[in-house]
Amino acid sequence: MPQSNANLLPIRSARPAVTQEVVARTGLDEAVLTALVHGFYGKVRVDPVLGPIFAARIVDWGPHLEKMVDFWSSVALMTGRYHGTPVPKHAELPVTWEHFERWLELFRQAASEVCSPEGAAHVIERAERIARSLHTASQTVRQLDGDVPNLK
Ligand code: HEM
Repeated sequence: MPQSNANLLPIRSARPAVTQEVVARTGLDEAVLTALVHGFYGKVRVDPVLGPIFAARIVDWGPHLEKMVDFWSSVALMTGRYHGTPVPKHAELPVTWEHFERWLELFRQAASEVCSPEGAAHVIERAERIARSLHTASQTVRQLDGDVPNLK
């Protein structure tokens, strides 16, 4: 029976060829991304600045960590596993660019602890880009909230 590439892959992906190339080049896979997410949020939870912001919103960490592994699988490996809406979630948070800088600092630490140098560079580059987008988008949402009258 003929086998497709997808059957040979250890990771289910919407774009198997791309995923396979990234895994081979960076060493990032399901186990590394799971360790990255758990290591990173371990740091976030005890951070004096970011910890309380998360603690006020996340009661059950299990589902959040699972969602974040899906997110990083989608972002880093292009598996298409995450289908969420991060912008509105972040627009409501009491954060400035300094909070995003701290987030990135902890993420860089976690990435360098669990990833290969190529893997760390791959996820850090994407985290930096998404942090800038989330910050800009959140500011726009907040500004629109203030500018557009509530017509209900
Ligand atoms: C100032 C920095 C940040 C803070 C304080 C923060 C905080 C949070 C909190 C509290 C949640 C849970 C929201 C909820 O379920 O109501 C969340 C969700 C999430 N965050 Fe962040 N975050 C930050 C930066 C980032 C960055 C840079 C990324 C991506 C690289 C990111 C990706 C996500 C994603 C994907 C979710 C899940 C959204 C969903 O429910 O689909 N966050 N964040």
